[in-house]
Amino acid sequence: MASAYRRKRKHDDSLIHVDLNGVMQDMIGGEAGVSVAELEAIQPRLVDAVGHLADERKQGLRPFLDLPYEKAALEETLALADELRRDLDWFVMLAIGGSALGARAIATALAPGGGHGGPGHVGLIVADNIDPQRFVALLDGLDLRRTIFNVISKSGETAETMAQFLIVRERLLRELGAVDYAKHLLVTTEAESGSLRQIVNDEGFSSTNFPASVGGRFSVLSSVHLLPAALLDVDVTALLAGAQAMDERCKSSDLGRNPAAMLAAAHYLLDTLHGISIAVMMPYSDLLSTFAEWWCELWAESLGKRLERDGSVVAIGQTPVRAVGATDQHSQIQLYVDGPADKVVSFLRVADHGARVEVPRSYPDIGDVAYLGGLPLGELLNAEQRATELALQKHGRPTITIELPAVTPFALGQLFYLMEVTTILAAELYGVDPYNQPGIEEGKRLTFGLAGKPGFEEQKSEVEAWLQRKKPALVL
Ligand code: PA5
Repeated sequence: MASAYRRKRKHDDSLIHVDLNGVMQDMIGGEAGVSVAELEAIQPRLVDAVGHLADERKQGLRPFLDLPYEKAALEETLALADELRRDLDWFVMLAIGGSALGARAIATALAPGGGHGGPGHVGLIVADNIDPQRFVALLDGLDLRRTIFNVISKSGETAETMAQFLIVRERLLRELGAVDYAKHLLVTTEAESGSLRQIVNDEGFSSTNFPASVGGRFSVLSSVHLLPAALLDVDVTALLAGAQAMDERCKSSDLGRNPAAMLAAAHYLLDTLHGISIAVMMPYSDLLSTFAEWWCELWAESLGKRLERDGSVVAIGQTPVRAVGATDQHSQIQLYVDGPADKVVSFLRVADHGARVEVPRSYPDIGDVAYLGGLPLGELLNAEQRATELALQKHGRPTITIELPAVTPFALGQLFYLMEVTTILAAELYGVDPYNQPGIEEGKRLTFGLAGKPGFEEQKSEVEAWLQRKKPALVL
């Protein structure tokens, strides 16, 4: 791998590239920097991890990796989008976590105008919270006759989504009547199990299947998220082609050619050998701001684990943080440069920002302003990214730069797939199961108890006893 690390690259214009120079000791110094020897030492485990994932995939255990190749599912999704878009202004997703974040990331990146429903356009709203003010305002602002609510819950039991569903169903019934209301509901859930599937079966709502054995945070390339994307006229075929192109690269056991393997190794070594316990994702593009939110969930839920696969207690996982350049240079970078040396900043850099906006050459006599005249805004943004990258490195702070040629469906498809495989390979190195989320289940059970769900009386008493233990003197 060390020789691969030195190898000269030929770049393909449509591919995204991962620049790991900023994690290496020779660039940022010994304290946080990864050494070539460390990379070499981890190579056998990394090769095993890539091989293990390939084996699991062959056995059909990792269907999310094959989503980009599901032609029949894609055709069905495109046909459904064509059918739905007639008489449709607003497509509202009622979903949370992995069932919501993928579609939002795609829409922000590839349909930046997608928040505006109306004649000739479908607008997408991802309602992923149950704040009462906001939820009521949302419903009040919609023409329900021109809206479809897509209730998405793999388990069919998530309290937030089910509460939204019940509120919306009752409102549709009240306003549109018993004959028409069901036409405005589309349910996406497990094919065979869960309360939501039972309701679909009983009531005959239109429904689609949440793909079997694909967890929410690994579902971004499935019909769950491709349907809203297609409704926004996103080229989902190109998105999947991008994922396929990245799949080819991430299968390679020549680690110097496998960006996911190298990224996973970099994060793992930084965390376990250099005390870098926080991973910041900082796109220098507003279009990728919600991609970073999607990634935060993927990284946190997949790698933040108490137990190793063998049952030993490890309590590991880098804390993911989202920042957006250049905005957060003016809020967070001070901490990242001068504060504790516990962060790696991953920049998402976009070579071509598309819209060309030049700063006017006003005030030529005022030097502090004049230098901006004639500068394309995208170039200024990229210059700020480079400057921040160097400033961090000069302070011995590790950085990773992922460069996209442009924010296109093909590039975004690569990025999603790259991050999914990186996460799985990192989990292999840490020795944890990336597909479960036991830490969330505890909170869910306590919520059920407080909300009065039958069978959770013990949890209700537990919360009540805990509230009793709070000392009034410490509530100021
Ligand atoms: O990624 C995950 O597994 C979670 O974020 C889930 O997607 C989230 O909890 C919603 O679950 P469900 O789709 O079952 O309602």
